[in-house]
Amino acid sequence: MGKYDAIFEPITIGNVEIKNRIAMAPMNMNYTDPNHYVSRQQMAYYAARAKGGTGLIIMEAVGGSDHPTADTYRKYNNASLANELYVPLMGDLVEHVHSFGAKFFVQVSPGAGRQGTSEAGAVQPVAPSPIPYRTYPEHAINSLDLFQLLRACGYQGAIPETDDMDELIAFANQVPGTHMNGETPREITVDEIQILVRDMGRTAKLAKRCGFDGLEIHAPHGYLLHQFLSSRSNRRNDEYGGSFENRFRFLKEIIHSCRKYVGPDYNIGVRISASDEVPEGFGPEYARKVARRCEEEDANFIHLSDGSYEKMNDFLPNHEGQVVPKAAVIKDGLAIPLICPSVHDPDNVVEVLEKGRADMVSQGRQQIADPEWVNKVREGRLDEIIRCTRCNQGCIGRFVLGLRGRCIKNPTVGQEEFMDEYMRRPILPLKNRVWQTLAQIGKEPGTPIPGVTPEDL
Ligand SMILES: Cc1cc2nc3c(=O)[nH]c(=O)nc-3n(C[C@H](O)[C@H](O)[C@H](O)COP(=O)(O)O)c2cc1C
Repeated sequence: MGKYDAIFEPITIGNVEIKNRIAMAPMNMNYTDPNHYVSRQQMAYYAARAKGGTGLIIMEAVGGSDHPTADTYRKYNNASLANELYVPLMGDLVEHVHSFGAKFFVQVSPGAGRQGTSEAGAVQPVAPSPIPYRTYPEHAINSLDLFQLLRACGYQGAIPETDDMDELIAFANQVPGTHMNGETPREITVDEIQILVRDMGRTAKLAKRCGFDGLEIHAPHGYLLHQFLSSRSNRRNDEYGGSFENRFRFLKEIIHSCRKYVGPDYNIGVRISASDEVPEGFGPEYARKVARRCEEEDANFIHLSDGSYEKMNDFLPNHEGQVVPKAAVIKDGLAIPLICPSVHDPDNVVEVLEKGRADMVSQGRQQIADPEWVNKVREGRLDEIIRCTRCNQGCIGRFVLGLRGRCIKNPTVGQEEFMDEYMRRPILPLKNRVWQTLAQIGKEPGTPIPGVTPEDL
């Protein structure tokens, strides 16, 4: 028995077998091409992690609707799969990642809600209720406190010398482009909710056609679905607010809509925050209830995260294993696999798995810092692991500036498209490629293909 064997125990989610217990958490690194199309850099960046042995890669949040209310994150140029135009490149991305040996899920989002912005020509953000978020500087993440954020956003002037957070926030709000508090959102209508529900289902169908092994509904981090779940942001008195079931309704309808479009055998998971722990927010017991209800509604897995823009140091934990105690609460009584985020140290990963705190671990920034983490652990090359210091400077620090993600520990990050080893891939025989595609849309491999002779295959 090797010390790290638990990490290399395969796991089955839905009907997909994953070769080990390490998932790469979804991360938007601002690599998407203009107009939300997948780029060569995205292909190479994900390929590097697949080549590095990561069992499951979860693609960053991808737009699940063309409706203007879902487009208030366009400042950060997220990728989209909201219509057929995005399919060709997305399909190529999936084929590319698969050829490096990883399973590949995609995170699909109905929008940022009040954490979006009307900047870059988008409409006024929508939310369950017209309440803006506020940033709590005391929940700052490493290296990016309020002052640094202001500086990072280009502010060169003096910053008041005060410890009064409200005064600081009021000041910061006057600085263009900082968004220390969100814009006041408009209450989303029931008709708009229904459009998003339908569109998410259509996107799920496209995700399946592209060849993704599953999809993850984006409901954490204070974005639109999270806002519905939390009574802090949801003050509605229609069927989408008030009771727990009403707050859960939007997410439930999206799960059903996706299921309707992809059928019973396809992997649908949900990512939620384990807590939002700001006044009137929720804690892990409530998140457990949400996870259980997702399971009852036929979700295949739960991927945890934590926090929101209001509690950034849960969203991007400053400490190793910060979410594990909350994962343990949520795992209790849950039958479907649970993925716990932000465990970077191999010994800690083993402990989480062996103590049954979660079934898999996801790594975000650690996978940025070292795409070869899994291979290095498997080969006993622990001293070669490039350890993420949770400094946030190259990844989220550049992201908030609208720059492409890098890493101060690893100069290759952001340059993968220029590295042959990540762009070169085995060319599958035509037969495999065509048959795979047919299988994805539910046709029997071997179906005669008009105009293709057996010799062509
Ligand atoms: C640059 C960056 C972009 C991110 N984008 C997403 C995203 O698109 N969807 C999501 O659910 N989480 C996103 N996250 C959060 C990560 O998935 C992960 O939960 C977080 O980084 C904590 O894990 P870590 O400590 O291993 O980095 C992002 C994080 C970073 C650093």
